Amino acid sequence: MSDQANRLRQEVMKRIQPEDKLRRTRVIAVTSGKGGVGKSNVSLNFALSLAALDKKVMIFDLDVGMANIDVLMGVTPKETLVSMLEKNLTLDAIIQKGVNGLQYISGGNGIGKVFSLDGEQLNHFFNEFNVLQGMVDYIILDTGAGLTQEGMRFLQAADDVFLVINPEPPSITDAYGVLKALHARDPKLPVKLIINRAISDQEAGRTAHNFQQASEKFLNKTIDILGWIPDDVMVRKAVMAQSPYLLEYPNAKASEAITQLVHTYLDLPSTYKLGVKGFLTKMLFHK
Ligand SMILES: Nc1ncnc2c1ncn2[C@@H]1O[C@H](COP(=O)(O)OP(=O)(O)OP(=O)(O)O)[C@@H](O)[C@H]1O
Ligand SMILES: [Mg+2]
Repeated sequence: MSDQANRLRQEVMKRIQPEDKLRRTRVIAVTSGKGGVGKSNVSLNFALSLAALDKKVMIFDLDVGMANIDVLMGVTPKETLVSMLEKNLTLDAIIQKGVNGLQYISGGNGIGKVFSLDGEQLNHFFNEFNVLQGMVDYIILDTGAGLTQEGMRFLQAADDVFLVINPEPPSITDAYGVLKALHARDPKLPVKLIINRAISDQEAGRTAHNFQQASEKFLNKTIDILGWIPDDVMVRKAVMAQSPYLLEYPNAKASEAITQLVHTYLDLPSTYKLGVKGFLTKMLFHK
């Protein structure tokens, strides 16, 4: 085939291929057992680090806790997922621009509403959300801590769950509780561990090893260790400055660690399931 014919064929293929064939949208849910372990910082800086590798990323703030994604970026969301439902808005109208052009959606107060939608509203939510299929490579959900029914439904529907722990025993015990509950719902759900705020390689290694062993011994479940992020004073400084540490202090130890973590993630076998539609179906209809 001549070059020109080949190009033409590629153009045509592009046009007739559904979007979802072009881009496999994966959903990553970030969670923890205990609150305050660093989920939002991990979600945001992981997202920015992926975006720096030319991946298209959308971040969802589904946490109703204190330190929200918007606060960490120093921006204020105008519309939220909840206001989309209340005002019948399109998804486009609630996508906000954060730092570095990072797209994000704020859940808003009363996000649990999405689980009791019916009729027109359910259709609207499904169709609008489904627009994301093929539009982005990764959807990152910053979920709340602990074992809420709502939280569990987001987690079990994701392609990947990132479980963030600190080396302290309460964080580990609570995270194990989350893992156990997730395992009971879906033993095949891929869970990946991130150790945040470790003070040394040894401490991180020990924590990861203990958690992995407990998981294998009691649940017969293997979990991947994605990596660890050091306890770094620059993280706190960045939080105070309302700017993500990866951007504010790109050479900080935490920034190097999150970059490394993204590479580790991209090197692991892909866990793509059924795209956005699959995620929505599971989240909305599998209790
Ligand atoms: N690697 C780190 N090094 C030092 N401090 C950190 C690190 N990660 C997080 N922190 C500190 O912990 C605080 C809480 O982090 P973050 O808001 O990301 O936690 P969270 O798990 O999302 O909390 P919540 O459960 O309230 O949503 C930050 O404001 C920061 O001061
Ligand atoms: Mg948070």
